[in-house]
Amino acid sequence: MESNNIFPTLTLSTFTVIVVLVYQYYYVVPSNAELQVGFYDASCSSAEFIVKNEVQRAFFTDRGIAAGLVRMHFHDCFVRGCDGSVLIDSTPSNTAEKDAPANNPSLRGFQVIDNAKSRLEFLCPGTVSCADILAFAARDSVELTGGFGYDVPAGRKDGRISLATEASANLPGPSFSVSQLRQAFANKGLRQDEMVTLSGAHTIGRSHCTSFSNRLFNFNTTTNQDPSLDPVYALQLSRQCPPGSTNPNSVVPMDPFTPTIMDTSYYNNILASRGLFTSDQTLLTNSATANEVIANSQSPFVWRSKFADAMVRMGQIGVLTGEVGEIRANCRVIN
Ligand code: HEM
Ligand SMILES: *[C@@H]1O[C@H](CO)[C@@H](O)[C@H](O)[C@H]1NC(C)=O
Repeated sequence: MESNNIFPTLTLSTFTVIVVLVYQYYYVVPSNAELQVGFYDASCSSAEFIVKNEVQRAFFTDRGIAAGLVRMHFHDCFVRGCDGSVLIDSTPSNTAEKDAPANNPSLRGFQVIDNAKSRLEFLCPGTVSCADILAFAARDSVELTGGFGYDVPAGRKDGRISLATEASANLPGPSFSVSQLRQAFANKGLRQDEMVTLSGAHTIGRSHCTSFSNRLFNFNTTTNQDPSLDPVYALQLSRQCPPGSTNPNSVVPMDPFTPTIMDTSYYNNILASRGLFTSDQTLLTNSATANEVIANSQSPFVWRSKFADAMVRMGQIGVLTGEVGEIRANCRVIN
């Protein structure tokens, strides 16, 4: 009798869980069918070429721009989906995403998007979205720094809302633990292994001292320095970021040896206790993520293809397509 009662209950709750999971999957990461590779082939055939040209031009002046654009696409996608909302300027009545502490003053590369946008508005007015320009620019940045590219499904529309509070609520922080990171990515429909794969982007670019200085001085009430950080590296970092340093602009490369090359040294660094952030080094504290760190460090070519796939999946988070959203004329201002 008891099993007769319990069985339908279990089936029902299992069914509910499946429905909810399937719903969340399609809700958070809409199906590939909505975006298309070569979306602008008919309407603006040189769109991708123009973006690439602008990214290259900027890269030859400042190679750090590539890192800035990869991060900007990530920060766009994690807040209201990849809808170009990170590009919108604040107004007297609204503090936009780009002015949240996670983005200001660290995010860079806005001018590259503006330059591409103005050329595209001249060539094919009202056709290419800011969100797509950013997705193409991130891919071009990977190509310039890593030597590998990937096709970018396009057809995103631009959003009309950008709130600093949402950036703070949705972007993972540098002191996150594995479980907090997993949750932040799961909230966007991305798996834990994709989180580890995408974190490999920390193989290029820079960080402000403020993002990790808690690991160097006054770590907690009993220990000054984070014991999971290699002491030699910690010493070097504390020279670059002296305690009580009041310069909020001080930066260090995240991968000291090859800061402009997209390779797998991010994973080697972690294995040598030289992950810059708590959120990097913490990947060794969980056996699944630790195994992925080891696998990625041992198989650079496998990592490349996983990274490309994960960038495409990230680029599909919460996209606006079809009649929803707009094609902004100026990426900084809603129409
Ligand atoms: C896993 C969670 C992540 C956390 C907690 C995190 C955090 C950070 C922080 C604190 C910085 C330094 C900002 C500064 O102080 O200047 C940074 C830089 C960077 N991040 Fe992440 N990040 C994460 C994931 C990602 C992902 C998924 C990507 C891209 C796929 C990415 C790409 C970058 C790049 C390229 C930079 C260098 C930016 C530059 O040089 O301008 N990060 N990240
Ligand atoms: C301080 O950090 C160390 C190393 O992570 C840890 O062992 C210790 O328990 C921490 N102390 C407090 C008071 O949190």
